[in-house]
Amino acid sequence: MPVRKPNFEPPFNIVRASHVEFGVRDLARARAFYVDCLGLIPSDDDNEALYLRGVEERNHHSIVLRRSRVPEIRALGFKLASEEDLDRAATWFTRHNLPTSFPDVPFQGRTLRTADVFGMPLDFYYRMDQSESLLQKYAAYKGARIQRIDHINCFTPDVQASYDFYSELGFRLTEYTETDDRDPQLWAVWMHRKGNVHDLAFTNGNGPRLHHIGLWTASALDILHICDVMATSGYVTNMERGPGRHGISNAFFLYIRDPDSHRIELFTSDYLTVDPDLQPIRWSLRDPQRQTLWGQPAPKSWFEEGSAFAGVPLAEPALAAQPIVAR
Ligand SMILES: [Fe+2]
Repeated sequence: MPVRKPNFEPPFNIVRASHVEFGVRDLARARAFYVDCLGLIPSDDDNEALYLRGVEERNHHSIVLRRSRVPEIRALGFKLASEEDLDRAATWFTRHNLPTSFPDVPFQGRTLRTADVFGMPLDFYYRMDQSESLLQKYAAYKGARIQRIDHINCFTPDVQASYDFYSELGFRLTEYTETDDRDPQLWAVWMHRKGNVHDLAFTNGNGPRLHHIGLWTASALDILHICDVMATSGYVTNMERGPGRHGISNAFFLYIRDPDSHRIELFTSDYLTVDPDLQPIRWSLRDPQRQTLWGQPAPKSWFEEGSAFAGVPLAEPALAAQPIVAR
């Protein structure tokens, strides 16, 4: 049986997906995209890095852009509920023979740096420097008027193994795609900690790699507006898929690529998932409405391209099944 019961007593308490560190080749070009076009708020910057947040975020940053020779992902950040949870997390990862260290990370308190079974780099922390809320400073709303980070979506070579790993850590399944075989195989999973459709999702593919991060906007109108802005300010080819409405999650979306090809999703209008007896929704891999409720298949690039994690080797996917792809 590929789908498990949720674990309500995980070994430590993860609150939510919190931030991602992107390696980018040209900080000025990345700033033009993320700040001048998308409207994210710079919290700090220096010659090596630019720290960004959305208008409602009190945490110092949800995106770090760090100067890098090659485009890559340095860390996926998750906030824990307490310092004690940080110690419990270190004990759990050590017991599972996974690497643990406590590097100094700017603007954060004690940070556990570790990795999952496929080498995906994970940073866990409790404290981050806090910033002024800009939620009601409406003059600060620019570009896509991004409110906050919502989720992290990754390719994994083995969806069942990634699902099993993060289920044990308390991530709860909300929706999943599986094959129609007599013995169905998981092809993608959406899992949450914070009470909406997901903090973390996995799709079958060459991995591990980051597929995209989802950034929350208050309405679909913000997403339509940024389409007009991008189309008329030199970023029309950065728009990869959408706008549209997903079948899975019901969210309104637009997928865009930054100047280093890292993929960002602008995302809104999913739903509440806090009920402990919430039944996950099953989708068939052959159902075109799971990708887009309106029926359009996603482009090939969407299924094949992603961002590598720094220094982490890739593995071919365990599952050969392929979804419907646009020509
Ligand atoms: Fe997403």
